[in-house]
Amino acid sequence: MAQIIDGNLVAKQIRENLKEKVEFLKSSGEQISLAVIIVGDNNPSAVYVKNKRKDCEEIGIFSAEYALPENTTEEELLDLIYTLNNDDKINGILVQLPLPKHISEEKILKSVNPLKDVDAFHPQNVGRIMLGDYLFLPCTPSGIMDLLQYYNINCEGKSCVVIGRSNIVGKPMAMLMLQNNATVTICHSKTENLSEYTKKADILIVAIGKAKYIKSDMIKENAVIIDVGMNRDENGKLCGDVDFDDVKEKCSFITPVPGGVGPMTRATLMKNTVNAALLQKK
Ligand code: GUN
Repeated sequence: MAQIIDGNLVAKQIRENLKEKVEFLKSSGEQISLAVIIVGDNNPSAVYVKNKRKDCEEIGIFSAEYALPENTTEEELLDLIYTLNNDDKINGILVQLPLPKHISEEKILKSVNPLKDVDAFHPQNVGRIMLGDYLFLPCTPSGIMDLLQYYNINCEGKSCVVIGRSNIVGKPMAMLMLQNNATVTICHSKTENLSEYTKKADILIVAIGKAKYIKSDMIKENAVIIDVGMNRDENGKLCGDVDFDDVKEKCSFITPVPGGVGPMTRATLMKNTVNAALLQKK
């Protein structure tokens, strides 16, 4: 049986460490604030935003929430971001995605002050990740790197396959693994003979959004399996992109869903917010 990578445990340690930092900053009169903007009523987004509020409360970060109606114009949203960019009391700005179709995501993400861009989605921050000289890392890939480090999983020289090429997870994830000296392959929905690649992976990172897609015959013996998926199975139960029960005897480490990558994504957002405040103080 594989060793379970316990994201809840590692994320709790990160939050406790942050709580101490925030308390220390508060004692010298510094209040850290995160602005979270949500446009329209998308159910999953509302749950994510609620969780962000809970995390902020636990750590002692002030959460300024802006819930805007679906018919908000691009200009109105840009105005709000402009105001928050110039508000010294706001340290981090997060625009919850997806946005309604009439608003250009690209334009909005570009408008966030890069020093307050706790998602690391601004082109300037994306470029800095390519160069290995970054202010912030996107929350999910950064959380995964912390998990690998916590469990002493060395990436150097290892064959790493990332499935998924999104700007939020796949692309930055591949870049971080490369910076950690893995040999990286990115697979995606157009990849032919996917299992030819996955079967060679020492570290397999899966972000495709298909419930229980990865089976034991697709993985290498003793592989490390990182499951970024968050789906519902046929019984409505939360599950990942990997068929956990099918692969658990064959791999060496695996992240469960829930309780693996998800809590780390949340904890990293809090870490980025504290780091943003420290950056702005300098
Ligand atoms: N929607 C789904 N994931 C994310 C994320 O990491 N950040 C933001 N802003 N929106 C999301």
